[in-house]
Amino acid sequence: MTRPQPRHAAVPWPATEPQPAAVQHPVIRLDSVVKTYGTGEAAVQALRGVSLDVVERDYVAIMGASGSGKSTLMNIIGCLDVPSEGQFLIDGIDTSSLDEQQLAVLRNRKLGFVFQAFNLIPRMTAVANVELPLAYAGLKMAERRRRAEAALFLVGLENRMHAQPQQLSGGQQQRVAVARALVTAPSLILADEPTGNLDTKASHDLMDVFDRLNEAGRTILLITHEADVAAHAKRVVAVQDGRIISDRRVAQATARPPLLGKRAVLP
Ligand SMILES: Nc1ncnc2c1ncn2[C@@H]1O[C@H](COP(=O)(O)OP(=O)(O)OP(=O)(O)O)[C@@H](O)[C@H]1O
Ligand SMILES: [Mg+2]
Repeated sequence: MTRPQPRHAAVPWPATEPQPAAVQHPVIRLDSVVKTYGTGEAAVQALRGVSLDVVERDYVAIMGASGSGKSTLMNIIGCLDVPSEGQFLIDGIDTSSLDEQQLAVLRNRKLGFVFQAFNLIPRMTAVANVELPLAYAGLKMAERRRRAEAALFLVGLENRMHAQPQQLSGGQQQRVAVARALVTAPSLILADEPTGNLDTKASHDLMDVFDRLNEAGRTILLITHEADVAAHAKRVVAVQDGRIISDRRVAQATARPPLLGKRAVLP
């Protein structure tokens, strides 16, 4: 008699026994996710059954036409919204089993967000903007400042720390937003059209930052309309009408850096 195969036979997970080193476990798993906004006649099905695994240290670009469901997908992965149907797991934890408080802790510890509109707080300096997520995490002031400065250094803004957003260029503001996303040392960085408001040079500089973050072990998911931005990623997922229509691996996910903890690499 043949044993019934698990649904995801190719990747045994969650692990119940020690796994060979070569197996990479998904940090994110969406299983048949449907998202419907509104009800009745006004209902919009933004996602129509999306299944997606993302392994640690991968670098994924999500592409697709306007309205295809990219931001909806990103908002679910970022725990900002919940599926109408199907399952969404982070690190093997079914997020539907978490309450608001637990989701907020997960977001703060694990996820860093970068949006197209930089969402910086005006009249607050760059370094104060970057410190904000640490204040929510309950860190002391000196430690917050130290980490925020390190994050701004990493994005090349050590000389503009005390400037306010309106005194910075678009590219610089976006790099402040990236510093704010990575100051809590999240393992997963989510970016929804991070280069959407940037010129070519600023896009290039920003993508350099993402490349370095991935090399240092961060998992990155970004939405983009631009092929040259997607070319930085190691995997390109195309979405159309709420479905994944292609999923192309361009390079292997970054290998685990030997003997270096994530916090040893970045602030
Ligand atoms: N809060 C909402 N209420 C109702 N419909 C929504 C809501 N958010 C998104 N939609 C609809 O869901 C579909 C997918 O939207 P989504 O924002 O995910 O698209 P997108 O791929 O990110 O598009 P863009 O490239 O323009 O940002 C669209 O038809 C959109 O109108
Ligand atoms: Mg969008």
